[in-house]
Amino acid sequence: MDHKVRKALEYVRTVTDFEPKVALILGSGLGNYAGQLDVLCEIPYTEIPGFPVSTVEGHDGRFIFGTVGAVPVVCMKGRVHFYEGYEMEQVVMPTRLMAAMGAKILFLTNASGGLLPEHYAGALSLITDHVSLFVKNPLIGPNDDEEGPRFPDMTEVYSKELSDEVRKAAKDEGIDLTEGVYAQLTGPSFETPAEIRLLKQLGIGMVGMSTVIEAIVARHIGMQVCGVSLVSNLAAGLSGKALSHEEVQESGRLAEEKFTRLVTSSILRFGKLD
Ligand code: HPA
Repeated sequence: MDHKVRKALEYVRTVTDFEPKVALILGSGLGNYAGQLDVLCEIPYTEIPGFPVSTVEGHDGRFIFGTVGAVPVVCMKGRVHFYEGYEMEQVVMPTRLMAAMGAKILFLTNASGGLLPEHYAGALSLITDHVSLFVKNPLIGPNDDEEGPRFPDMTEVYSKELSDEVRKAAKDEGIDLTEGVYAQLTGPSFETPAEIRLLKQLGIGMVGMSTVIEAIVARHIGMQVCGVSLVSNLAAGLSGKALSHEEVQESGRLAEEKFTRLVTSSILRFGKLD
């Protein structure tokens, strides 16, 4: 284990011996989901030695430990983004830490811009695959062979088993769940219409500034991964409107109820898997 992760884990263990099954990362505008947990304890990121502290509005900055039904969950309310200026290694450190706490499942959520007709503004979309080509790979650097191989396979980043549970959860809840490929760009500027046209030709359905690097690290260390994106807006040039972070946050508020039902129902289903 990386020594920074070990130090952070040592601190966490002075506060709680909680062992999560699911690690849940809440995307922009989606942080209120944390209120759904039966909370056992919370740790602000600022208390954790070596932890990168998030600066973006709408990202509140703490781990929340609790249960959804009987399922032990650690939730990141507030994500760390590469565009904030951290080294890539620091951005993925929280994912490593949650794995070190014992989480076997990483449930990624985010807000995105939609490129294809099925990714309309307000849609919830299952991430079926990703394109990481526009960001630095988070595994660059010495490899810890005890954590995972030097050249990890990425054929099935988003677990078919978990994705099926999310689909069933959507069906149970009567929620329209679309599906697609997500690409992470660095941000913080939104894309240009020309960039969106290019990405569209590559078959990308959703674009955002997170998720992919966390998914890569999680797969490397053997976690099962799934992802749900809230399409908060049509991507640049598709609606004729300028994009803003306020719109992203507002979309989160508007979708809160269905997002909450989908995430809770999915987690309850994950709880029944071995
Ligand atoms: N582009 C990039 N990131 C985003 C967007 C977008 O249109 N919407 C929400 N996050």
